[in-house]
Amino acid sequence: MDNIINKLDKQNLPCHVAIIMDGNGRWAKSLGKSRSFGHKNGVNSVREVTEASAELGIKYLTLYAFSTENWNRPIFEINTLMSLLVSSINKEIKTLIKNNIRLLTIGNTESLPKKVQKELLKAIEITSKHTGLTLVLALSYSSRWEIINAINKLNQDIKNEIVTNDIITEELFSKYLTTHDIPDPDLLIRTSGEYRISNFLLWQIAYSELYFTKKLWPDFNRNDFYEAIFDLQNRERRFGQTSEQIRNK
Ligand code: FPP
Repeated sequence: MDNIINKLDKQNLPCHVAIIMDGNGRWAKSLGKSRSFGHKNGVNSVREVTEASAELGIKYLTLYAFSTENWNRPIFEINTLMSLLVSSINKEIKTLIKNNIRLLTIGNTESLPKKVQKELLKAIEITSKHTGLTLVLALSYSSRWEIINAINKLNQDIKNEIVTNDIITEELFSKYLTTHDIPDPDLLIRTSGEYRISNFLLWQIAYSELYFTKKLWPDFNRNDFYEAIFDLQNRERRFGQTSEQIRNK
C-alpha cells in the first residue's frame, strides 16, 4: 500500500474533494483522553491531507471543520475548536504561502467569535492571489442554513429588481450559495464508519462520488487519502447517462 501514490492516474485527478472529518472524539476516548485531545490530533490529518492535495495538484479541498449543529456541544469543546482554528491558521500561514494555497471559508462565519473572524480574514486576504490549491473551510456551516440563506438573498434581489428573471435556474441559484465560484465536489469522503451526510453540501453533491472509511479522522493519513482517490478513479461516473454513452464520448 506504500506505493499507492504511484498507482494514481495524475491526468485524471478529482478537481474538488470534500471531507467530513469525523471520529476525533472516539479516537481520543479509545486512548482514555479528552475529546479536545482528539481535535488537536485531527489537525495533523488536516495538514497531511492539505499537503497531499497541493502536491497532487488538486484544485479544491473542502473540510467540514465546524457545523451549525456543533454550536450545541459543551462550551469547553467549542472553545477548544475555536482556539485550534486560530492557532492552526497562525501556525500554518507560512505553509499556505509556501505552497501557493488560497484559503476560503463557507458558512455563517459572522457567527464565529470576532477573534476567529479576524484571523480568518487576515489569512484569506494574504492568500487571495494564490493559484494552487484552494482550501475551503466549512465553518458554522450547514447546508439547510446555506440554502435558506440563498433563497432569502435571492428574494431580496428580486424585490429590489436586481434579478428580473421570470424563471430561477440552477445556475442562478448556485450563485447565491456560499460555494459560488467553487465547482461541485467530485469526491466526498467521510471518516469514522458513519454513513451520513450530516447537512453538508446537499445541493453541491448531487453527482459526487461518496467514499466512506472506518478510519477515525486523527488516523487518516495521506495514504488513506490516495486510497480514496484511487477508488474514485476506478469508478465510472455516468451523471445519469448509460455506460455506452460515457464510453463513446
Ligand atoms: C468531528 O469529530 C470533528 C469535528 C467536529 C471538528 C473537526 C476539527 C478539526 C479536525 C480541528 C480543527 C480544524 C482545522 C481546519 C484547523 P467528532 O468530535 O464528532 O468525533 P466523534 O464522532 O468521535 O465524537
